[in-house]
Amino acid sequence: MPTEVTHVVMEGTSAEEAVCWQERKMSVLPPGCTRPAVLDISWFTESMAAGQPVPVECRHRLEVAVPKKKMPSPAWMLPYACQRPTPLVHHNASLSEALETLAEAAGFDGSEGRQIAFYRAASVLKALPSPVTALSQLQGLPHFGEHSCRVVQELLEHGVCDEVERVRLSERYQTMKLFTQIFGVGVRTADQWYRKGLRTLADLQEESQRLTQQQKAGLQHHQDLSAPILRSDVEALQQEVEAAVRQALPGATVTLAGGFRRGKLQGHDVDFLITHPQEGQEAGLLPRVMCYLKKQGLVLYHQHQHSQQGDLTQQSHTMDAFERSFCIFRLPQPPGAAVGGAQKPCYAWKAVRVDLVVAPISQFPFALLGWTGSKHFERELRRFSRKERGLCLNSHGLFDPEQKTVFHVASEEDIFRLLDLEYLPPELRNA
Ligand code: UTP
Ligand code: MN
Repeated sequence: MPTEVTHVVMEGTSAEEAVCWQERKMSVLPPGCTRPAVLDISWFTESMAAGQPVPVECRHRLEVAVPKKKMPSPAWMLPYACQRPTPLVHHNASLSEALETLAEAAGFDGSEGRQIAFYRAASVLKALPSPVTALSQLQGLPHFGEHSCRVVQELLEHGVCDEVERVRLSERYQTMKLFTQIFGVGVRTADQWYRKGLRTLADLQEESQRLTQQQKAGLQHHQDLSAPILRSDVEALQQEVEAAVRQALPGATVTLAGGFRRGKLQGHDVDFLITHPQEGQEAGLLPRVMCYLKKQGLVLYHQHQHSQQGDLTQQSHTMDAFERSFCIFRLPQPPGAAVGGAQKPCYAWKAVRVDLVVAPISQFPFALLGWTGSKHFERELRRFSRKERGLCLNSHGLFDPEQKTVFHVASEEDIFRLLDLEYLPPELRNA
C-alpha cells in the first residue's frame, strides 16, 4: 500500500462521477493528507509516452469543471414517487436493495403498511442525485422513519445490517421467495404451503394434484422461467407477436410495456399491449392471435382471460378487466446460447413468460401507463390522484367520483397534464 496517493486516473468517467468517488474515498484518507489530482486517462498515456509523469495541466483534470457538490436540500424531494424522476441506474443501490428486502419480507407476512413504508423509503434513495455517505443526509427526506434510518445507519457504519441479513437467510423468506416466483403463485398460496410445512419445489411436485394448471406449467418450466429474460429475447418475441397480430387484424398494433419499456435490460416476463386505432375493432382479436402463435409452435401454455369490463371505476388497483392471455412461450434460441445454467446442455429454445393484453383505443393510454410500472410508481400515482386531486385512476381511465365524469385522453402525456404532474418518460418511472 503506497503511503501517499498523488494521482488518480479514471477512464471513461464523467467529472460528476469522479467527484462522487472522490468524496467517498477522501473521507478515509489519513488527516493531513493532500487530495490527489483526479485525472483523465490522457494524463497517464502521455506520461507513459514521455517515460515519466508529465506535469498536470488543466485539460487533464476531471474535477475542474464541477463546483463542489453538496447534497441538495431535501425541500425539492417531493413526497410522491410520481412527482420526481427515478432513473433505472441510481446512486444508492445497496441501501435501496436492503430496504426492499425488508419490504418484501413484510409483504410475505401480510404487513402491507410496513411493506409500503419500506418501499417508499427505498424509492426516495433511488431518486437522490448522489450516494448517501452520512446519516445526516437523510434529514428532512420524506418517508424516512426511525426503522429505515436505523437500517441505513448500520449499513453506512458496518457495511451490513443484521436485520436484513437475518431476513435474507431465514427459511421463511427464502421459501416464500421461491414459491412466489412460481408462475401462478401469490403470497396467500405460498403462505398456505409454508404453513403446511412445504419448503422445496420437490415438496410441491409431490402435491401436484393440488396445483392449478398454471402452477403446474410454472413448475414444469421453472428452471427456464427463473432465468432472466434478455433484450434480445424481447425483440425476437415482439417480432413474432407483431406478425401474429398483423395476420389476425391488419392495422392492430403491439406495444411493449412493463420493465423493458422502462429500459430494464433483464426481466421476469414480457408485457405486450395490443390495440387497434378504431374503437371496437379489437374485439375477438386475441383468440385469433393465439391460434396463429400456436400454429407456429410458439406456445407452451396459455390461459385466456375474458374481458371483465363492468363498472370500470370499481377496478381494484392490482387487477384490471382487460381481455388477456397469460402465456409461456417457446422461444427459439440462437445456436450456442447458454440456457438455464451451466449444468443444462445447450438446446435450441427456452420457455419465457409473456402477458398479452388487449385494450380498446379509448383506454389505451391508461393501460399503457398502468402496465409500464414500476409497481411502486403506479401505486404512488394512484394515491396521488386520489389524495391530492380527488380523482380515481386505474388502467382503464381517470374518473371524477364527485362529478361522475370521465376524462378522454390521447396519450400518457395527457394523463400527466390532467393530474397537473410533470411528464415523466418510462425510463424515469423506475421508482
Ligand atoms: P410486472 O409484474 O411485469 O413488472 O408488471 P415489471 O416492472 O415488468 O418487472 P419484471 O417483469 O419483474 O421484470 C408491470 C406493470 O404491469 C402492471 C404492474 O402493476 C406493473 O406496473 N400489471 C401487472 C397490471 O396492471 N396488472 C397485472 O395483472 C399485472
Ligand atoms: Mn414485466
